[in-house]
Amino acid sequence: MTLESLSGGYRAAVFGASGGIGAAFVSALAADPRCAAVYAGARAAVRADLPKLRPFQFDLEDEPSIDRAAVEVSKDGPLDLILVATGILHDASLRPEKTWRSLSPAAFDRAFRVNAIGPALIAKHLLGHLSVRDKAVFAALSARVGSIADNRLGGWHAYRASKAALNMLIRTLSVELAVRNKSALCVALHPGTVDTALSRPFQAGVAPASLFTAAQSVLHLLRVIDGLVPAQTGRLFAWDGAEIPF
Ligand SMILES: NC(=O)c1ccc[n+]([C@@H]2O[C@H](COP(=O)([O-])OP(=O)(O)OC[C@H]3O[C@@H](n4cnc5c(N)ncnc54)[C@H](OP(=O)(O)O)[C@@H]3O)[C@@H](O)[C@H]2O)c1
Repeated sequence: MTLESLSGGYRAAVFGASGGIGAAFVSALAADPRCAAVYAGARAAVRADLPKLRPFQFDLEDEPSIDRAAVEVSKDGPLDLILVATGILHDASLRPEKTWRSLSPAAFDRAFRVNAIGPALIAKHLLGHLSVRDKAVFAALSARVGSIADNRLGGWHAYRASKAALNMLIRTLSVELAVRNKSALCVALHPGTVDTALSRPFQAGVAPASLFTAAQSVLHLLRVIDGLVPAQTGRLFAWDGAEIPF
């Protein structure tokens, strides 16, 4: 996949390079002949096993580490593409809730820290390093279940609410970003249901044809990013390019 809409020799940064979708983004971008460098960030060290790869470390819950990451990824010049591929759905303190009786402050705290506040802090430290010339994109992986308009099933309260908050942040950031560069976009993306550690406990009801590999999802998402025009900034798009209402 070649990103034709970005400047030749474009530079990209992926936050969450250790994740299923994040790792597939890094591989796909490194394979794009028009891409000059891919900064690949994770909590643990990322191996620089491809020539274009520039590893860096950060933790969404440690703002100084995001500040250091911003310095690292911008040292050779501005970025054309920033992808936030981090996120959490379940861990020891967070279990997707089936009823309001299961709501817990610890789960909300965890979901909001990782899914909303962390990406906002990445934007805080990185948007100033997005190219002010030509098309430039800041995209964060959100989820269809974060759409308030689309919520007919209920459940998954903390995850849904944290992704809805992320969607609002994306819209708010997009307004400010447009003042800086009218060709820049700030968008949220829904990757589809993707076979990763995040979705594995919840795949039972998913038809095999509806379950993407991370590589398939990333191919779709990069096509969507490539096709986006500045008038579409501040919105949520699914893997097939369809807009999902907030
Ligand atoms: N998979 C799906 O079906 C699906 C569907 C809709 C939306 N999404 C969204 O897509 C995104 C990526 O999901 P995925 O399926 O690729 O999940 P994943 O394989 O579990 O990857 C999650 C990534 O988030 C990182 N992360 C979590 N907490 C972090 C922190 N405090 N600091 C830095 N990094 C942190 C993880 O890093 P570590 O390796 O260090 O833990 C990992 O790189 C998420 O936002 C998710 O909500 C996924």
